[in-house]
Amino acid sequence: MSEKSMLPSRFLFCLITISMFLLILSSLFLLQFSNTSFIPNSVFKLILVNSTSVYFKSSGKNEQTKLPFVTSVASPVDSKRPMGREGSCQISNASKKMDALGQGRRKGCDPNQAHLRAFMYDLPPEFHFGLLGWTGKANQIWPNVSNPGRIPSYPGGLNLQHSIEYWLTLDLLSSDTPNIVRPCSAIRVKNSSQADIIFVPFFSSLSYNRHSRLHGKEKVSVNKMLQDKLVNFLMGQDEWKQLGGKNHLIVAHHPNSMLDARKKLGSAMFVLADFGRYPVEIANIDKDVIAPYKHVLRSNPVADSATFEGRPLLVYFQGAIYRKDGGAIRQELYYLLRDEKDVHFTFGSVRGNGINGASEGMASSKFCLNIAGDTPSSNRLFDAIVSHCVPVIISDEIELPFEDVLDYSEFCIFVRASDAVKNGFLLNLLRGIKREKWTKMWERLKEIAHHFEYQYPSQAGDAVDMIWGAVSRKISSIQNKLHRKNRYRRSQILLKRN
Ligand SMILES: *[C@@H]1O[C@H](CO)[C@@H](O)[C@H](O)[C@H]1NC(C)=O
Ligand SMILES: *[C@@H]1O[C@H](CO)[C@@H](O)[C@H](O)[C@H]1NC(C)=O
Ligand SMILES: *[C@@H]1O[C@H](CO)[C@@H](O)[C@H](O)[C@H]1NC(C)=O
Ligand SMILES: *[C@@H]1O[C@H](CO)[C@@H](O)[C@H](O)[C@H]1NC(C)=O
Repeated sequence: MSEKSMLPSRFLFCLITISMFLLILSSLFLLQFSNTSFIPNSVFKLILVNSTSVYFKSSGKNEQTKLPFVTSVASPVDSKRPMGREGSCQISNASKKMDALGQGRRKGCDPNQAHLRAFMYDLPPEFHFGLLGWTGKANQIWPNVSNPGRIPSYPGGLNLQHSIEYWLTLDLLSSDTPNIVRPCSAIRVKNSSQADIIFVPFFSSLSYNRHSRLHGKEKVSVNKMLQDKLVNFLMGQDEWKQLGGKNHLIVAHHPNSMLDARKKLGSAMFVLADFGRYPVEIANIDKDVIAPYKHVLRSNPVADSATFEGRPLLVYFQGAIYRKDGGAIRQELYYLLRDEKDVHFTFGSVRGNGINGASEGMASSKFCLNIAGDTPSSNRLFDAIVSHCVPVIISDEIELPFEDVLDYSEFCIFVRASDAVKNGFLLNLLRGIKREKWTKMWERLKEIAHHFEYQYPSQAGDAVDMIWGAVSRKISSIQNKLHRKNRYRRSQILLKRN
């Protein structure tokens, strides 16, 4: 070999050595500063499966504040899309493995491994399953959920769209039921001092739907009576007093549920459909979690989902006419769109037989309109998603579930209400979205649709699992605020002592 050819290869060797060294150095650096989330927790956890010292460090530290730190928030979002910017292939593998770990565990979950430890009050059945007509044996508070075929059923029809309370409660109950296989993202703990969150098992939406009218000689409705009782109960609990309710999770998905109690319980974290009927000091995105409606239409199996050509309708909308609030826009759009051949735009609710019609309509349309009604949100969006019909969201105030981990612009079109009512605007926009671009959104819809499914038992990445993820991310931010408040408070206590 001649000198001339040796030189470049030696140079190359040095270069590789140096870069390897830098690579190792930088990974060490990343590991050290795990808490600043340079890399997603899921990856981090995988790397550290065995070095428990790092993984569990946070729970010990937090004894001063009663809310134990949420150790990790491995997002259950579909594995194809990494959350962070770097290392996408690593991340996708990591999250898959995490899911596999969760599902493989048949003997319940290890509380130390769960992302969210929830203490659930043993409220009497009149607050939860009793509202479904369930009665247990004397002193039995919870139904036996070990047989998924024999759990108390939630009344069907439109009540179901707000049944989030029911699925979350069932999931916590099943977390210590041995033969139920579910993701271990949340787990019920029996001692509240071990809990990250205190779950309040009140079926508030059902209580509103079924019991807000006065019956017979009643002076107050059952719905109001239960809320009053709940407020009294909570105010008397040590768990509530510790942080003034900040560590409590209350589900109030129907926009009218908890109407009497929401002000008094406003410090808690709510699970809501939107903030439309709440003043900002009682409910806001800083502390509360937006959960999807349970869709009414049947899900479109991914394998059967019609492609661009297979969807003859351009636009689909079916809904009620609202004359109040933001809903006036529905009528304006109706006059703009009603004469178009490839547009289905009708007023009427999706009940009974309408459900089949709407399922077919959405599954054979390219775009489905989601127009503000009397509230900013509606189950129509989730019907569209599970029909793989690209949602067109015309609702300026809408809040979207899990938006911190899902980028809706990948599979939804957003149109400002003021633009949508301009002559020709909407149709020009939608007709301008050609096969390729539409197909990209449709592919993404098929990937994310399972995040909006409620089921028992819960599965990795479904709506229940996603809600627990969202709750634990909120807890981190509550924790953050708490610690910031402590910055000078503690030093002041020290100063006083000296
Ligand atoms: C983790 O460490 C424990 C002992 O500390 C050992 O028994 C186990 O096999 C290790 N697991 C892995 C995956 O290395
Ligand atoms: C990722 O996982 C797949 C199968 O789950 C495996 O074949 C592949 O080798 C893994 N890749 C890495 C980088 O670990
Ligand atoms: C629940 O029901 C199963 C049978 O379906 C039974 O084996 C189990 O003991 C029951 N659990 C309780 C706590 O009663
Ligand atoms: C709950 O845990 C705390 C601290 O670990 C302990 O002091 C208390 O006795 C426990 N309570 C019950 C009812 O086990």
